[in-house]
Amino acid sequence: MSNSMLTLEYISKAFGPVQALNNISLAIAPGCVQGILGENGAGKTTLMNILFGLIRPDRGQIRLNGQVVAMRSPRVAQKMGIGMVHQHFKLAPALSVTENLALAVGRNFGLLHRTFFRQRITALARRLHWEVDPETVVGDLNVGQQQRVEIIKALLGGGKVLILDEPTAVLTPQEVDELIPAVRSLAEAGITVIFISHKLSEVTRLCDRIAVLRRGEMVFAGPTGELSAEEIAQRMLGTQSAASTLGVSSTSPGPVRLQLSRVCCTVPAAHGAKPLLDNIDLSVRAGEIVGIAGVEGNGQTALIDAILGSLPIRSGVIMLNGRDLRHEAHFRRARQFACIPEDRQGQGLVLSLSLTANLMLRSYRNPEFSRFGLRRVKAWRAQAVGLIRSFDIRCAGVDVPIQALSGGNQQKALIARELHGHPPVILAINPTRGLDIGATAFVLQQLAATRRRGAAILLIHSDLDELLSLSDRVMVMYAGQLLPTHWPAVDRAVIGRMMMGVKPQAA
Ligand SMILES: Nc1ncnc2c1ncn2[C@@H]1O[C@H](COP(=O)(O)OP(=O)(O)OP(=O)(O)O)[C@@H](O)[C@H]1O
Ligand SMILES: [Mg+2]
Repeated sequence: MSNSMLTLEYISKAFGPVQALNNISLAIAPGCVQGILGENGAGKTTLMNILFGLIRPDRGQIRLNGQVVAMRSPRVAQKMGIGMVHQHFKLAPALSVTENLALAVGRNFGLLHRTFFRQRITALARRLHWEVDPETVVGDLNVGQQQRVEIIKALLGGGKVLILDEPTAVLTPQEVDELIPAVRSLAEAGITVIFISHKLSEVTRLCDRIAVLRRGEMVFAGPTGELSAEEIAQRMLGTQSAASTLGVSSTSPGPVRLQLSRVCCTVPAAHGAKPLLDNIDLSVRAGEIVGIAGVEGNGQTALIDAILGSLPIRSGVIMLNGRDLRHEAHFRRARQFACIPEDRQGQGLVLSLSLTANLMLRSYRNPEFSRFGLRRVKAWRAQAVGLIRSFDIRCAGVDVPIQALSGGNQQKALIARELHGHPPVILAINPTRGLDIGATAFVLQQLAATRRRGAAILLIHSDLDELLSLSDRVMVMYAGQLLPTHWPAVDRAVIGRMMMGVKPQAA
């Protein structure tokens, strides 16, 4: 163990009654890409936060090149060459790339430093074959570009160890294909990379070794090829992984619930008046799932915003159950939809509130939960306990802040709230993002069951396999247009090509 560059020894950590980590040991050689797998709440992020100095372990120690080191803070970790890209990014959107990076290393920001940082950023980007403009404001970058900035930030401290916590959860498949060689080139340069993901295929493609955590215990550590995918899943879940049976809708769909006719929307002239939504025709019936495939950034977010009323449309009509929504107030309009949004922390959850309060955000006004404007505490608690149990939300109690939940469990809480109470129309973007394989199968089954009960579901999903397995009809979104397909009578490859802008007749 002593010639390994990085060694974690007997690490334990409890949060109240939750034993997040129990006696974890792991040795990682320089230049190794170490994958970490485990279901939601298994302890992956906690272990990395300990390595990065954000959390102090209850027991155990960390060695770098044989020396015991005390990771008292992220600053100490950075000084030792350890960098971390978090599951949820930590950049200031109003500042430029250079300013963000200077802030991160805590330097004062004179002219000399600006030049120095700009050069460092450009040099690091070039090494990874990335185009990064140091003067761009971070808020103008898309998620994939922001992640590159985060990676460069993590390498500024000297780059001996790079921790990537679910980096691919926010990326499009193309961006994943670009990230993987970049990570490999870092490893070839001798940097130790720790890579967390729920996608087995990515881990087996990229990682030299894998470690599997289950409920805070290390249940496997070894070379990547040693276990089959099925065996890894089995270790992660502690059971045989159940293949999910979804099936298409057995009953024929009912009346049209949501209808968009010739909807157009443009971005303001300041950005060049680009069409965001270009003549969209779409209908979703009760009891069907309409899937929208597409590379992110082709108008999917605008489509949801237009339906909810937060993005004004230039022309066209949006109808819900035969009623024109144009004249309805935004808040009343949005309330009629269940929505699993793209950005769970920004739009779906209120991070300063407890798990229970977050679970009640849709229903707290119902008479069973409030009387004379006061909340009925027992009813709240019973409702929260029921949802936590049925969605298997792992938490230390109903009153914990939602922020104390692991990323995947936050997502489960959001979905539990939105799918509860038989909502008639559901809008979902990437509902399984950040979920482990068990939770993913569960959520897909829940969506299928909700459809069987007559819900109209609009599903926008960047995971084409999941989208095709669940949808009754599939459309492709490209450059603001919605193109119909003859799914399932059409090849998956044709849909893939349509996503890249190739028209079906030419495909
Ligand atoms: N600050 C905290 N306070 C209380 N409990 C916490 C805190 N941070 C983590 N936990 C708990 O520790 C456990 C492990 O969480 P962790 O975030 O490490 O999981 P994870 O493996 O990263 O999961 P995911 O795949 O969902 O991101 C969870 O049960 C979580 O609720
Ligand atoms: Mg995590």
